Amino acid sequence: MSGFVEKPEPIQVPGLVHLHTGKVRELYRNEAGELVMVASDRMSAYDWVLPTEIPDKGRVLTQLSLWWFDQLADLVPNHVISTDLPGGAPADWAGRTLVCKSLQMIPVECVARGYLTGSGLAEYKESRTVCGIGLPEGLVDGSELPAPIFTPAAKAAVGEHDENVSYEEVARQVGAETAAQLRQTTLAVYGRARDIARERGLILADTKFEFGFAADELVLADEVLTPDSSRFWPADQWEPGRAQPSFDKQYVRDWLTSAASGWDRAGEQPPPPLPADVVDATRAKYIEAFERLTGTPWA
Ligand SMILES: Nc1ncnc2c1ncn2[C@@H]1O[C@H](COP(=O)(O)OP(=O)(O)OP(=O)(O)O)[C@@H](O)[C@H]1O
Ligand SMILES: [Mg+2]
Repeated sequence: MSGFVEKPEPIQVPGLVHLHTGKVRELYRNEAGELVMVASDRMSAYDWVLPTEIPDKGRVLTQLSLWWFDQLADLVPNHVISTDLPGGAPADWAGRTLVCKSLQMIPVECVARGYLTGSGLAEYKESRTVCGIGLPEGLVDGSELPAPIFTPAAKAAVGEHDENVSYEEVARQVGAETAAQLRQTTLAVYGRARDIARERGLILADTKFEFGFAADELVLADEVLTPDSSRFWPADQWEPGRAQPSFDKQYVRDWLTSAASGWDRAGEQPPPPLPADVVDATRAKYIEAFERLTGTPWA
């Protein structure tokens, strides 16, 4: 079982047509045909959208993405048109709403990995490969890879797992030329972001990008280099051979899988509401990631 514990009712705004409720974002189209992307405070874990929100999360993700888009602007164009609130939008959309180019999205999660963990580690243990890419012997959880690799995944529906696919599979799906462009751009952006994060004491272990086409130009879309789309590890605590402390959903995952939650991940029941201390600790981690990366105090 998975999906939304409680599917939210989208807010209706005159002049905006509601298009889609994603796990985290609400998508609308404005009268100019642009995409209005509103990040909520929703949190997903273990393929569930949880019944408890993390205050300020939507604004943190949005502001951090904007900061990164600026850092990357010379490498790849991005989808942001403006941060102006559409007329008639609720005041609390401020800071978490982006007016974007409506792109022809490419249905590939473009993942770059510089370190081995998560689904990459699981595949490595089976076959010494990640997405079919052969890797040296002797790597452990948290090992740095000899060089960053492009490990695409097929985008799954809400409640389903994204599935790692080979480069050849991506090329079959989107064509050889686009596949090469996706790989090259993903690795270039990862390299830039990894270097910036490293200067701030953070390891960018891996990250996921989504791209789309505006006419025939490849454009970076969605959110970028946030704790929801990336694994950031404090560099001074990095120690291969164990799970690394991270800036993402770790508190939430740890609590959900602990006896305290009473929840069975493999069972039929949806996850329970999060206790206040888990919410507070998670909110603090998102804000810390923002502050450490941008060097700007939050609020
Ligand atoms: N510029 C863009 N044009 C069109 N779609 C976009 C653009 N940027 C992001 N998207 C899409 O907007 C949605 C963002 O919402 P969110 O992150 O909540 O969704 P998700 O849970 O990751 O995926 P899903 O939409 O499948 O639920 C994604 O489907 C993403 O592909
Ligand atoms: Mg998303």
